[in-house]
Amino acid sequence: MLATKIRDALAPCSLAAWPTPLEAQPALARALGLQALWLKREDLMGGNKVRGLEFLLSHAPSRSVFVTVGGSGSTHCLATARHARAQGFRTAVAVFPQPETDASLTVGAAMAATADRVFRASSLVTLPWAVLRAWRAAHRLGGGGAGGGGKPRWIPGGGADPRAVVGHFLAALELNSQLDAPPDTIVVPLGTGGTAAGIALGTAWLGWATQVVGVRVAPRLAANRWRTVRLAHRAEALLRRSGVELTVPRSAIHVRVVNAMGRGYGHPTAEGERARALAAEHHVRIDPTYGAKAFSFFLGRADVRVQRAVFWHTFAWP
Ligand SMILES: Cc1ncc(COP(=O)(O)O)c(C=O)c1O
Repeated sequence: MLATKIRDALAPCSLAAWPTPLEAQPALARALGLQALWLKREDLMGGNKVRGLEFLLSHAPSRSVFVTVGGSGSTHCLATARHARAQGFRTAVAVFPQPETDASLTVGAAMAATADRVFRASSLVTLPWAVLRAWRAAHRLGGGGAGGGGKPRWIPGGGADPRAVVGHFLAALELNSQLDAPPDTIVVPLGTGGTAAGIALGTAWLGWATQVVGVRVAPRLAANRWRTVRLAHRAEALLRRSGVELTVPRSAIHVRVVNAMGRGYGHPTAEGERARALAAEHHVRIDPTYGAKAFSFFLGRADVRVQRAVFWHTFAWP
C-alpha cells in the first residue's frame, strides 16, 4: 500500500491517530443546494498542520529548537509549539499582529503558554527583525549549537515545505478509502498552500477528475496557485528521491484558486460570517480566518457542477 511505503520511506513521527473522520452533512448540503456534502474533520485531530508536523519534526536531533513564524493567532505556530514540546523539543516563534477575533485570541493565548519564546513584531515590516531575534533565542535555548548543543531548525511559515505536503497527500489517500466515489469538488482554505498542494497531488495520483478549490484567505504573495502547484511537484520529487515510485503526470495537478480574503488576512468578511452562521445552525463550528471564508465558497457558487463536495475542516479550537 502506498501510504505504508511512504511512512516506511520517510519515517514521520506519530502525532495523532489517523484517519480523521469524514462526516456526511445531509441537512447542511440541502441548505446549500448541494447533492452531498462531507466534512473532512482535520479539526478533530489538532487541525491540518499536524499532518505536516509529523514529517517536519521527525529526525531532528535531541535538544533541537524549532523556529517558525506566523500571525499572532497562528494555529501553525501553536501546533508547532505543542507537538515540538511533546516530542521533547523547544520552540521560538516570531509573530506579526493580526485582527483580534475570538479564534485568534484563543489561539494566541495558547501559543504564548506553549512556545518557549514568542517575539512579537509591531507589523509585517518589522517581522524579519522578530525572526532574527527568535533565531538567536533558539541558539541560546539549544545551548549554542556547538559541542552537542541543540541547533535552531527553521520551519517556514504555515509549514509550507514539501515534507509537510506529503502528510496532506496521505490525507487525500485516506479520503479515497472513505468515499465510494470521488467528489466533484474539494474545498480547502488556502493560506500558504501546503494543504491544498498535498490534496491536489493526491487527487492527481488517484486519477480523480475532482477540482481542488483553494479558497485564498491570505495575500497573494503567500497564497497562490503557482506556489501551491510547485509545492506539489516538490513533494512528488521528494517521494521519488526517497524511493517511492510515484507517477503523476505534471499536467494532472490542478488547483483552482478563488479569492475570499476581503480586507486582509484575519479580517472577517460579511460572506464568511454568513457562512459561519449557517454552519453554526448545523452545529458546525468554523473560525473566521480560514473556515468561514473557505466555506463561503458554497454560498456564492455559480458553478452548478459543484454537487458532491468535501469541505476540509482545518481549524482546531484550542
Ligand atoms: C486552520 C487553518 N486552516 C487552513 C490553513 C491553510 O493551510 P495552508 O497554509 O497549508 O494553505 C491554515 C494555515 O495557515 C490553518 O491554520
